Amino acid sequence: MRTANGWRNWGSELSRLDWAGLNKHVWATTMKAPPEGFSSEHQPVLLHEVLDFLMCRPGGIFVDATLGLGGHAEAILQKIQPGGRLIGVDRDKESLERVRDRLLPYAHSVLYFHENFKNLPLILNNLDLPPLDGILADLGVSSYQLLSPERGFSFQGSGMLDMRMDRSQTQTAAGLVNQLPEEQLADLIHRYGEERYARRIAKAIVRARSQGRISQCAELARIIESAVPARGPRSIHPATRTFQALRIAVNEELEGLEEFLADVLPFVKPGGRVAVISFHSLEDRIVKRTFRKAAGLCVCNRSPELCTCPREARVTIITPRPATPRAAELKDNPRARSARLRVAERI
Ligand SMILES: C[S@@+](CC[C@H](N)C(=O)[O-])C[C@H]1O[C@@H](n2cnc3c(N)ncnc32)[C@H](O)[C@@H]1O
Repeated sequence: MRTANGWRNWGSELSRLDWAGLNKHVWATTMKAPPEGFSSEHQPVLLHEVLDFLMCRPGGIFVDATLGLGGHAEAILQKIQPGGRLIGVDRDKESLERVRDRLLPYAHSVLYFHENFKNLPLILNNLDLPPLDGILADLGVSSYQLLSPERGFSFQGSGMLDMRMDRSQTQTAAGLVNQLPEEQLADLIHRYGEERYARRIAKAIVRARSQGRISQCAELARIIESAVPARGPRSIHPATRTFQALRIAVNEELEGLEEFLADVLPFVKPGGRVAVISFHSLEDRIVKRTFRKAAGLCVCNRSPELCTCPREARVTIITPRPATPRAAELKDNPRARSARLRVAERI
């Protein structure tokens, strides 16, 4: 059904969205109590910057590829009314259930997809949409996930070693920790955690698991702590990097990011923008490199005679240096300290 302005009336057509393989909308309404320490006043990171860079205006069509707790999505929806539309994606079904409740006032303007954002082209190809005004991806895990002990993301939590964003997948952190050969485990911790003590940590894990399966976050954190030299007064917890590495591996976080960034560009209209918030250097490097490549710039760092980088510019880079949180935001939300926002505009 189309409305007078030619738009699909999504509110009444949701039940029709039943394409093969894509019917992963979330309808469940059962809500669990929020985890301890979780504030419903959670502030989305770099919110003002995101809204400014994405130039959200009434009638705009946007994708939030990482809905999370819906903070950015809600602010975008406020800006794009009347007539705006949001396609919301998250690979975490529980988050989608939660966010659907928060965004209820905008139910007729939002479509939800339980999907990995690397499959966004598949979703968009099946929607009858004009080119997008913008796409946001706010990478990593939400504070809700981090603070839910049963999700097993935090070394401070009492939960099992899980770390799956999408709980329908089979690989868990416990699986990797208990099954990978020592050398592969060390490589993983080194590559995805940039952990200088990766070999020592892998050795300690293999020694510990020979006594019995390692299944809890706190247990792994203790093994790591005992394997590395005592930390200085202000350094991060010794398990931080290993937990990051396991999370990235379990969720194959880096593999899909480059693919996603390159593949979504054709869905954005000229002048439309893609904004990505990353939280560690591995992600930020991929975003920077992919945007540079799409801007027709060299990414191989070879001399001009040897460079084979495609020099076709499909975007303009809007943030030659990433935007970072201002002091006021950091004061309210210290977790935002490592956030980096990069934005590219489709030519
Ligand atoms: C940092 S949170 C987003 C917070 C959100 N912007 C807000 O304001 O509440 C990241 C979210 O992205 C989801 N996510 C991470 N990688 C994803 C991927 N490849 N595909 C889909 N969702 C992903 C996570 O499950 C998590 O809910």
